[in-house]
Amino acid sequence: MVLYLAVLLLLCLCRQGLTDDTGVVAPEDHSCGEQVFRQEAWRSVGGAIEKLGRQLLESLQAGPEQPNVIISPLSVALALAQLSLGAHNETQKLLLSSLHAHTVPCYHHTLGSLLQHLTNTSLQVATRMYLRPEFEVYQSFIAESLRRYRSEPAPLISVEEVNRWVEKATKGHMTNFLPSIPHDMVLMLINAVHFKGEWEARFDPQLTQKGEFYLDNNNFVHVDMMRSAKYPLSLLEDGELGAQVARFPFKGNTSFLVVMPLPGRGNVSSLVAKLNISDLYRRLPQESTMQVQLPKFTLQYRQELQEALSSMGLGSLFSGPDLSGISAVPLQVSSVRHACGVELSEEGADASAATSVTIMRSVPIFFVNSPFLFALVDHTSLAPLFLGTVTNPAPDTSPMHIDSQLGDDPHGNNTQSDSTNSNNVQSDGPHSSNNVL
Ligand SMILES: *[C@@H]1O[C@H](CO)[C@@H](O)[C@H](O)[C@H]1NC(C)=O
Ligand SMILES: *[C@@H]1O[C@H](CO)[C@@H](O)[C@H](O)[C@H]1NC(C)=O
Ligand SMILES: *[C@@H]1O[C@H](CO)[C@@H](O)[C@H](O)[C@H]1NC(C)=O
Ligand SMILES: *[C@@H]1O[C@H](CO)[C@@H](O)[C@H](O)[C@H]1NC(C)=O
Ligand SMILES: *[C@@H]1O[C@H](CO)[C@@H](O)[C@H](O)[C@H]1NC(C)=O
Ligand SMILES: *[C@@H]1O[C@H](CO)[C@@H](O)[C@H](O)[C@H]1NC(C)=O
Repeated sequence: MVLYLAVLLLLCLCRQGLTDDTGVVAPEDHSCGEQVFRQEAWRSVGGAIEKLGRQLLESLQAGPEQPNVIISPLSVALALAQLSLGAHNETQKLLLSSLHAHTVPCYHHTLGSLLQHLTNTSLQVATRMYLRPEFEVYQSFIAESLRRYRSEPAPLISVEEVNRWVEKATKGHMTNFLPSIPHDMVLMLINAVHFKGEWEARFDPQLTQKGEFYLDNNNFVHVDMMRSAKYPLSLLEDGELGAQVARFPFKGNTSFLVVMPLPGRGNVSSLVAKLNISDLYRRLPQESTMQVQLPKFTLQYRQELQEALSSMGLGSLFSGPDLSGISAVPLQVSSVRHACGVELSEEGADASAATSVTIMRSVPIFFVNSPFLFALVDHTSLAPLFLGTVTNPAPDTSPMHIDSQLGDDPHGNNTQSDSTNSNNVQSDGPHSSNNVL
């Protein structure tokens, strides 16, 4: 089982006042309502979501505090798209351009229909609009939000109630999301995305054991490594990208894409800008049997996105936006919070793979044992539902120096000979075993 979840939240501030219900919602061609959606339209919205995700990931630098960055481009796109329904003039233009909406025919309609399609698979999306009871919002904004993005209005009563809703929407994985609600906050747009997938070919939990993950040329950490001697994998070595690219399929038309820089060929941050999922999916070959190692981990990422969105040109949302389609009262965005978690483990539906430890010399190997970029990709739209960079899958353990190891477990007085287990990675540096045949 692999499990992901994400929550995104927008807070809007205001001064109080009453309004007549004359809001005008962003116009969209009437012909859009009738359009029949085909893969092509979903592909274009998938590309737009990918571009947004890439820019966001580029502006969210990993640091020592948070070595891994995990976002849900889908969740961010849904929230910004909903906000754009109530935006006018320059603000609307900015939002739509950050969403790359001009590359998609009938943007709102297409995104809304993709949302419907995705929630039919293993993805769950819950969306809510919290309103202070005394705050007046144009009915048209509420109706459009509900119609397009199934955003249900709800009265903002207490922080406990909001947190309970978040906890329920994420199946208990996100607790105490908000510490408090500022008194001047009148409106919150919130969505929770939850994905639970099953590998098409599961890993055998009995084969999982500690292995090295190389942080850089000098340091490594020990992580639980899922192992398989015969895993059906689609693998590509992309010289131009300077990376190995692998696709691990899930049941239900989604897959886990791993992009790992080749030794001496740049790092994960420099890969982000060059990512193009549709191009990679076009070039990935048929699956073949490989010896595979993939770290097992649970990671959480929480981040206020104001700075990242500002660096993407959306700074005016936080100073003086035109949100006159939401309310007659001047509003501004006070905070955009994002929380995301990922859990990667062995279980899948199909137990047929990965039951043997016998290693044949001729089987190619792919070990995910150094920093990598990942995307959870929906096959229909090729949209990255989740996107992240993992530079340290065990951030709570202290790294070890490669020199001190010399091929043996430094903690274990490991005298056992490992001659029968060619899974054993010799510690002569990162990637030593990543030769693709
Ligand atoms: C990927 O590359 C193709 C051209 O090769 C381009 O049309 C498309 O927009 C790119 N997608 C993204 C998300 O950048
Ligand atoms: C902003 O939009 C409103 C409503 O659509 C319009 O009446 C107004 O003239 C616009 N203002 C500017 C500066 O474009
Ligand atoms: C979603 O699933 C229902 C049946 O559960 C089906 O009727 C509907 O056509 C599906 N919608 C999409 C967009 O796949
Ligand atoms: C996966 O996609 C194929 C074709 O694209 C479709 O026939 C199949 O029903 C889809 N499966 C699920 C679970 O959505
Ligand atoms: C990644 O590589 C780029 C150049 O390709 C460099 O500017 C940057 O500092 C590197 N980042 C890290 C974390 O090493
Ligand atoms: C195992 O190694 C530790 C230091 O890493 C050492 O103190 C201890 O004596 C060793 N035990 C044996 C049985 O070699």
